[in-house]
Amino acid sequence: MLHLAARTEEGWGAWAVTCMDEILLDHAHCEKKAASTAVGLIFRYQDVPALAIPLARLAREELEHFEAVVEHLRRRGLEFGRLRPSAYAARLMAIVRPREPERLLDTLLCCAMIEARSCERMQLVAEALELSGGDSELVALYRGLLASEARHHNDYLGLARDLVPEDSLRSRLQAIAQHEADVIAHAPAEARLHGAAQKSTTA
Ligand SMILES: [Fe+2]
Ligand SMILES: [Fe+2]
Repeated sequence: MLHLAARTEEGWGAWAVTCMDEILLDHAHCEKKAASTAVGLIFRYQDVPALAIPLARLAREELEHFEAVVEHLRRRGLEFGRLRPSAYAARLMAIVRPREPERLLDTLLCCAMIEARSCERMQLVAEALELSGGDSELVALYRGLLASEARHHNDYLGLARDLVPEDSLRSRLQAIAQHEADVIAHAPAEARLHGAAQKSTTA
């Protein structure tokens, strides 16, 4: 269960596979950022030792995902390089309250929602690739990543669950999931894993 407050709009996956090169490059950046965020939390919360090992494991997996996506880029004759980040994560994280201990709880829940949305979007890409008879190795890549991203969602939720009573966790998760749904619903139309589909101009 991914706790998403709203599903991605119909047709996003079919559109995403028409700009797969850009989606893949953005995806590589997302995996790199996911690893970096987990390592950053280990640095920031050295006084919360329960975070260290789960986040180290998660960061290692995200770096493996990063390597796998970069290898796929190279198979397509492309190379990893700079890309302007989509505004999704920054807009999502705007809900994080500035003071501890709320800051840690909100950050973990935002990370959980990023994992959930990434998992949903990767599934949509995999399904659309299969439907369009696309690159079978790419389908295998996305299918292989789904289980990890769903687990990461649960990992972050589990770490948050250790901080507050269950009812407090539930209500804050619901608020952050609703905020995430608003952020993704207002994402600009661009070829990003967390972007919106470019609408066809033809009637
Ligand atoms: Fe990942
Ligand atoms: Fe992940």
